[in-house]
Amino acid sequence: MKFDKSLENYNNALEVIPMGTSTFSRNPNFFVIGSSPLYIKEAKGCRIYDLDGNEFLDYAMALSIILLGYSNPEVNAAAKSAIDDGLIYTLSCQEESVLAKKIIEIVPCAEMVRFVKNGSDSCEAAIKLARNYTKKLKIITVSGYHGFHDWFTSSTPRNKGIPQLMSEWIISHNYNDLESIEKTIKEQSSDIAALIMEPIINYEPKKGFLEKIRKLTEDNNIVLIFDEMKTGFRLDVGGGQKYFNVIPDLAIFGKALANGFPLSALAGKKHLMKQLEDEKCFFSASYATEKASLAAGIKTLAIIQRDGVISHVWKMGAMLKDGIRKIIDKYELNSILDIVGLAPMTHLIIFPDKDFSVNEIRSYLQQESVKRGVLFVGYHHASFAHQSKDIEYTLQVYDEVFGLLKDALLSCSLRNKIEGKPISAFSLRD
Ligand SMILES: Cc1ncc(COP(=O)(O)O)c(C=O)c1O
Repeated sequence: MKFDKSLENYNNALEVIPMGTSTFSRNPNFFVIGSSPLYIKEAKGCRIYDLDGNEFLDYAMALSIILLGYSNPEVNAAAKSAIDDGLIYTLSCQEESVLAKKIIEIVPCAEMVRFVKNGSDSCEAAIKLARNYTKKLKIITVSGYHGFHDWFTSSTPRNKGIPQLMSEWIISHNYNDLESIEKTIKEQSSDIAALIMEPIINYEPKKGFLEKIRKLTEDNNIVLIFDEMKTGFRLDVGGGQKYFNVIPDLAIFGKALANGFPLSALAGKKHLMKQLEDEKCFFSASYATEKASLAAGIKTLAIIQRDGVISHVWKMGAMLKDGIRKIIDKYELNSILDIVGLAPMTHLIIFPDKDFSVNEIRSYLQQESVKRGVLFVGYHHASFAHQSKDIEYTLQVYDEVFGLLKDALLSCSLRNKIEGKPISAFSLRD
């Protein structure tokens, strides 16, 4: 398999785009450079085609953006028609309130909705609403990723260019660590405006974890924000909050919402959302009411409800998860691999081996899967386009590749077997 055009494009891109791309998680350093595709030309269903014409089964689905499958004809037709109507206007369009109504109908916490283009902006607006409502400053985070804005990244290692002062307002906790979250809330509730979290991060919530967080926040005048960029319209059409039956005050959606078209939504309780009618509580974007994405969102949600999309992704995801578990057991790789998460969004957790790093193991798994037509990135988000035969094929590939991994570990030869520049980046949640 050749990657010459990907490599050529990478070298050209590096001259004009810092890192070679504008999206962190599409950074070529997440791939084995020389043994993996770096740029994609087109995609259809659950298959992507790189610049060199290689075809791959995809499970990252554009960083969890694609739920129905790439290039869904009905969604595309709705968006194309909106483009032909002129796309964006001096005033807003009707589709904005039609989609807001739909979200209010299906998402439990949604009483009002505002749209923008990306999750970072919606998260920032949610924090602003919480701070203004409670007149408090501090924010609890619970692992997870909430975009690139300063309020959040100040508390992460990716904090250059941000006043250090801002990190003092963030109190970071680990997912499922109820004890320390409870302690923080007990000690500092008079300063804490919000607790923001993804409903699930890789591992499932411990029994009562989300319910207890709901109770603690409610009792202490803390706004509970669910960042549902990934769980929204995927675990359930009503999001993680519907699936877990824990209803936050505010929630952020995006990704699956418009099946690839750029759209994000901040939804929540009226008393919080209504603050945006105060001109001094400001949240606005020029492109927020662009009609193609709103039309795509309306069509996407209609298809999810009409075609049993959620039960399909659960079924495909479960087949994949069970199959991967069996392969891990078969090759006795349990000390370095684990498959975790709910069926529609599973993660292959890699633990370092005594001789090899996580990124070296990941590189080898990716390289060997890519050779066999599966673009392995570590997580699997099944889409409506994946069919049983795709999952069966993927499991066949993983069976071979995990077997090769076992041999490479036993013979201590894994490092020598990596044919390109190994993966060197670390995920946003690391
Ligand atoms: C849970 C979560 N929140 C927020 C964001 C930020 O969204 P965006 O990249 O659209 O700004 C992401 C993006 O991956 C995300 O996964």
